[in-house]
Amino acid sequence: MTILVTGGAGFIGSNFIIDWLSNSDEEVINIDKLTYAGNLNNLATLRENKKHIFFRVDIGDSKVCRELINKYKPRAIINFAAESHVDRSIDSPEEFIQTNIIGVLRLLDSANEYWQSLDGKQKKIFRFLHVSTDEVYGSLNADEPAFTETNRYKPNSPYSASKASSDHLVRAYNQTYGLPVLTTNCSNNYGPYQFPEKLIPLFINNALAHKALPIYGDGLQVRDWLYVNDHCSAINAVLERGQIGEVYNIGGMNEKTNLQTIDILCSLLDELCPLKGEVKIKSYRELITYIRDRPGHDRRYAIDCTKIKKELNWEPIENFETGMRKTIEWYISNTKWVEEVTNGQYRKWIERQYA
Ligand code: NAD
Ligand code: DAU
Repeated sequence: MTILVTGGAGFIGSNFIIDWLSNSDEEVINIDKLTYAGNLNNLATLRENKKHIFFRVDIGDSKVCRELINKYKPRAIINFAAESHVDRSIDSPEEFIQTNIIGVLRLLDSANEYWQSLDGKQKKIFRFLHVSTDEVYGSLNADEPAFTETNRYKPNSPYSASKASSDHLVRAYNQTYGLPVLTTNCSNNYGPYQFPEKLIPLFINNALAHKALPIYGDGLQVRDWLYVNDHCSAINAVLERGQIGEVYNIGGMNEKTNLQTIDILCSLLDELCPLKGEVKIKSYRELITYIRDRPGHDRRYAIDCTKIKKELNWEPIENFETGMRKTIEWYISNTKWVEEVTNGQYRKWIERQYA
């Protein structure tokens, strides 16, 4: 059998495909537009693997998506494709509307047309799994309980508003056309192959180059960090055992303020990559600087993942210390990957964002 993954050259999608093909013989069709965030080097270990078939396609290109779906007849479509960086959505929201809303609508349409044409077992087993985010629920105060699947949607950035719209469309395709959908809302991921515009890889990259570590505002915003492979195992559990039409929250049970996260990161860097005599600083902590806050910055995210734990028997494996150690070691050993993604276009973004 075959699964079709969109956005499989991005951070989570590529980790998902690598993990999938190390545990299964099932073919993966990977469709990705290869935006600045998509990178085939993430999938370099699969170059000789015939079970991974890549197409450079926009999920909004209905004609090609339909052709590929009809040709490969996947038993499931897993949608990772998205514009994913909050700061870029504040800078230029339109691309977020195009991919995260229009693109998802068109993909749903292609999937629905295909599913309606199936019969028997193929129709029964087909699933459309939409990978979404905890940001759709908005921001929590310090004393509020963590987000459950029934929290009201209150997105605060163009990114989260576009993801919220896509979640509603996914739900509507189930309610209106019967398309067998599943939705996951996950907290902040970290791990190998994350593009160094997001907090953790940006700070590792900057620290190793002895550049400033720019904390937005007071640094007391809280995120609930999850190691990327634990997100992948949760998606697998939802795909195989989730109930059609249901939503599953996925989280790390690991709330940290940004300052706590950066403190752990700096301690591990001091241990794994000690600063030598020629630099004036003794610890990477000395690189921390405070800069203007992100507009509309969500104060706190926290996920209540009781449902997926109880109903689907899912548990994360990594704790923050083991996950961060693996992540930092990966970035230290993959400087070529980092050099290749931090090209001219990347530098322009960093200069503008942190000017
Ligand atoms: P990413 O930005 O690293 O990767 C996104 C991928 O989608 C890239 O390969 C890009 O080329 C591709 N893409 C973008 N537009 C496309 C289009 N129109 N057609 C086809 N491909 C397109 O993102 P990520 O961090 O891997 O996130 C993957 C998904 O998980 C997203 O839907 C995101 O909203 C969600 N999510 C991310 C996190 C996180 O912490 N990173 C947490 C929860 C949910
Ligand atoms: O919660 C899930 C979401 O997590 C995903 O849906 C998004 O795709 C993903 O990008 C992430 O969003 P965040 O905005 O939480 O992640 P980011 O890494 O951009 O920022 C994490 C925190 O660190 C946030 O409070 C902003 C802060 N930050 C970030 C950057 C890039 C800084 O203080 N300085 C920075 O330079």
